[in-house]
Amino acid sequence: MLSLDPRSAEAFEALLARTVGFVLLLVDERLRITRAGAGAAHLADRTAEELIGLSLIAAFGSAALDSVAREALGGDEPASGEAQLGALGRRHFTVDVVPIAAGNLVVALHEISTLRRVERVRRDFIANISHELRTPLASIKLLAETLSGGAAPDADTAATFAEQIGREVDHLAQLVDELLELSMIESGESKLAVETLDPDMVVATLAERIGPVAARRHIDVRVLPGAADAEAVRALADPARLGQALLNLAHNAVKYNRVEGEVRLGWQTLPGLVRFTVADDGIGIPDAHQSRIFERFYKVDRSRARGEADELLGGGSAGLGLAIVRHIAEAHGGSAGVESTEGIGSTFWVDVPRTA
Ligand SMILES: Nc1ncnc2c1ncn2[C@@H]1O[C@H](COP(=O)(O)OP(=O)(O)O)[C@@H](O)[C@H]1O
Ligand SMILES: [Mg+2]
Repeated sequence: MLSLDPRSAEAFEALLARTVGFVLLLVDERLRITRAGAGAAHLADRTAEELIGLSLIAAFGSAALDSVAREALGGDEPASGEAQLGALGRRHFTVDVVPIAAGNLVVALHEISTLRRVERVRRDFIANISHELRTPLASIKLLAETLSGGAAPDADTAATFAEQIGREVDHLAQLVDELLELSMIESGESKLAVETLDPDMVVATLAERIGPVAARRHIDVRVLPGAADAEAVRALADPARLGQALLNLAHNAVKYNRVEGEVRLGWQTLPGLVRFTVADDGIGIPDAHQSRIFERFYKVDRSRARGEADELLGGGSAGLGLAIVRHIAEAHGGSAGVESTEGIGSTFWVDVPRTA
């Protein structure tokens, strides 16, 4: 049986204090804490002195932790398990309890919250992507079955079905492109080709690209006057990436606008930054959703995001557009954000560095 006197326990705890996510405790045969370091104190939200003499369950409020300790105590053998500890039990730990001399136990906690979070993100990602793939695939299957079925449709109907299949395929292709784009920016694989850009030119190019799409929905595009000292201001950005981010914002500004609404494109200077803005008179975004819309696959209203407007805009309602915008902004060392009032409209922005 391993033995650990208080002094070596202290040295051990000092060592562990340097190891992130590792916590060590000593408890006696009644599961009362006899030694605890800073890690344990922090986890229990008390001082290390306050912990001494408390029972495990009183200190951490976890039945799971308590029962692993009891198992080790009763069996005289090491025992392992998992427990959720910390405020609201939000942190995940593996628990290893090793009996030492005189019925005392060493309780070692190793935090695995990050691992758990990564696992959850991956599960959500697969669930989301399956959902996004299933919808167009289901309609392609249905249309193809109808086309090849016994009661052959007339030539016009067949042509319409074929067009619909084409649109769904475009939608799938765009989804795949967006996913690749996201993973490339996230992994840092695609290097930015940063150039010195005239903000007026960036906005003018954007207006040109979004113009035809907006016109088809009877939405005006207006370019706001730039900063007064425009001569001197230059953005430092990858023109293709920045253009992609702003186009995503402009697409949304058209898609979520009201009939005969307006899209306003502009820019301004901030300390060290150029802020490009895309404003609309659309449905706006409820406060509760504003912090989440930049997440992958997040949509305020799933049914509305995939409406008739998509046909004009060519797919693109997987909820990836804003995630790409944020990643592009951050890859530049900038950021992206929104200010919005429900029923009035939204202003999205992308900040990128500028020349001194
Ligand atoms: N200009 C806007 N006005 C209102 N809501 C918007 C606007 N832009 C984005 N949103 C909301 O944010 C969500 C995420 O946007 P995005 O990532 O571009 O996905 P998508 O456009 O594919 O749905 C949209 O589904 C929509 O609910
Ligand atoms: Mg979008």
